[in-house]
Amino acid sequence: MYTGILHLHKVVVGLFIFIYLIKTIFLLMPGKEEVLEKIKKFMKIPEMAIAFLMLGTGIYLLLNASDMSTLLIIKITAVFASIPLAVIGFKKNIKLLAVLSLLLLVGSYGMAEIHKKRKSMIEPELLTINPTQDQLLSQAKSIYLSNCAACHGADGKLGLSGAKDLTASQLTYEQKYEVIKYGKNAMPSYRQLSDEQINALIAYTDGL
Ligand code: HEC
Repeated sequence: MYTGILHLHKVVVGLFIFIYLIKTIFLLMPGKEEVLEKIKKFMKIPEMAIAFLMLGTGIYLLLNASDMSTLLIIKITAVFASIPLAVIGFKKNIKLLAVLSLLLLVGSYGMAEIHKKRKSMIEPELLTINPTQDQLLSQAKSIYLSNCAACHGADGKLGLSGAKDLTASQLTYEQKYEVIKYGKNAMPSYRQLSDEQINALIAYTDGL
């Protein structure tokens, strides 16, 4: 469910930004007022539907989000600030407002991407050289609690952001390895972990 909504949200945001881009281009071009009016009229209903879907899916994702970082709050503020700017900008054909609103939208899209990258960062002090098996296991526990538990929960069952219940996983070792190393849907990738660390993480989560 979460994954489906996440994909829908991305598609709808893409469409929304695309429509705004087209409208802004025509607003900026001299002598295209008539074309712009036609586009506005033609797009009025689809645009409303898209905006509704964008906010609806956004709110759903927010309610199921694993954490509320500052970046996420800035992103949401930017999106909400861009709406009145766009409405006034296009109603009165004020170029500056329209451009500003587009920048805010594109900027918050970029922030969503940074947000995802940031999430999968693991503190460098955890990456010791040639650790023993015991060190690996206790390291796995601390990596798990500080990185994975936000979505999966300390017991593996939380399921935030569409995360799977790890205690009920049917995946083979190789499949788990792939998911952890390369990520999947809302699950970030953890390429910076060594094979030994991923092994230890799988052992740790299997024991939950
Ligand atoms: C941002 C939330 C998030 C974080 C953080 C996260 N996961 Fe996940 N995890 C997910 C989601 C979502 C899925 C389901 C992916 C799918 O199949 O669509 C998943 C799936 C998995 C699976 C596969 C389970 C199955 O049966 O399909 C494993 C194993 C797993 N995660 C381990 C981890 C480990 C280990 C970490 C920390 C290093 C971690 N996850 C961090 C969200 C997260």
